[in-house]
Amino acid sequence: MTCVVIVGTQWGDEGKGKLVDFLTEDADLVARYQGGNNAGHTVKFEDKSCILHLIPSGILRNKMSVIGNGTVVDPSALLQEFEELKELDISVEENLKISETAHLIMPYHRVFDQLREKAKGDNKIGTTGRGIGPAYTDKVARSGIRFTDLRSADHLRARLEALIPEKNCLMKYFFQSPVQFSIDQIVEEYLGYYEQFKSYLCDSSLLINQAIDNNQNVLFEGAQGTFLDVDHGTYPFVTSSNTMAGGVCAGCGVGPVKIDKIIGIVKAYTTRVGSGPFPTELLDETGRLLRKEGSEFGATTGRPRRCGWFDAVLVRQAVRLNGITSLAITKLDVLDQLETIKIAVGYRTRNGQTLTELPPVYEKGMVPIYEEHPGWQCSTKDITEYDKLPEALISYLNRISELVGAPVSLVSVGPKREETIVCDPKQIWA
Ligand code: IMP
Repeated sequence: MTCVVIVGTQWGDEGKGKLVDFLTEDADLVARYQGGNNAGHTVKFEDKSCILHLIPSGILRNKMSVIGNGTVVDPSALLQEFEELKELDISVEENLKISETAHLIMPYHRVFDQLREKAKGDNKIGTTGRGIGPAYTDKVARSGIRFTDLRSADHLRARLEALIPEKNCLMKYFFQSPVQFSIDQIVEEYLGYYEQFKSYLCDSSLLINQAIDNNQNVLFEGAQGTFLDVDHGTYPFVTSSNTMAGGVCAGCGVGPVKIDKIIGIVKAYTTRVGSGPFPTELLDETGRLLRKEGSEFGATTGRPRRCGWFDAVLVRQAVRLNGITSLAITKLDVLDQLETIKIAVGYRTRNGQTLTELPPVYEKGMVPIYEEHPGWQCSTKDITEYDKLPEALISYLNRISELVGAPVSLVSVGPKREETIVCDPKQIWA
């Protein structure tokens, strides 16, 4: 039995969906512990392609898939995901379970997310506009609605009667919008969802802990990335949940001592979508090449991703914050053509100071200190064995491992399941 956490080490989009799908072959249960349908996990298998937003990637291999209590669920978006999976002949009925205490994204959350972003103008976060932030805000303010609140119409109505006047007041007087939320409409819509979801609801902490007690392999699938974590990310340009490995404990109701392995997913370069600091961002031809070769467009919103060189300072911090036991390095094939490849090993501030850690407040004018490595300039696409990888690529991997302080367990050279090389199986399932 092993409990493995998969966590993004940068700003999300590191290729977690593909790796989770690959590792799920040996898992018995896969669980999401945070986030919502802001995530977009792209998985390519056989001749099919699928983007999952909330359902754990384990569903594609008929494994028990659990949406944990730490997530926020938009019921209408989840039903749409059911439909998309049905088109691929994948049924969710037998293998999906949803925490009865997961919080719901309500219609006003989506509206507030979009209105708040608009009001911020140039200072906007660049959210996905899915209502994630406002749903977590209500959770912490003890004003959230959970699946359990849909059990009784009277109870749901009473909760909404206490909440909606404040929301409508904000709409009218702060946002100066003519839109008002109707309690009747929301009650009707969400009671309808309850009927559609009630057979999936469960005490997900109990289910997961039973799997652990029964010596099953459990995989926790992180969404977004370490630097979008609300506590440790580049605040305020973050998402509203604890994306890091520590989020598993609260977001799935699992004790920290149960976790055996934490695999950090690392893109061989860096990308970010939305606003916020990005020291190694490339606004030149190389940045455009990375975007093109890596198809760097948001899986949820389609927005072009900002691209840049690999930042070892960032990933070393992620190794420390998450307690990462090994790295899975993805999208190496995207670098195939490059003559030279840079790695940031520190930053220089405007007043000439050298920094070896990402500061809590990003300083304008801070520039990366790079070291340069030779590229391998050949195709890695069809390579399936570690020893067959070009020497320059192996040196690049070794240097990353040395700089960030964790061994490499997996390497990915393309989006398909078979384009994955296991370097050290002991670092994955014990
Ligand atoms: P929110 O999660 O929609 O509130 O967005 C907050 C920030 O997180 C924005 O910069 C988004 O672009 C970013 N973000 C949210 N989900 C993802 C993801 O799955 N991948 C990459 N960035 C994300």
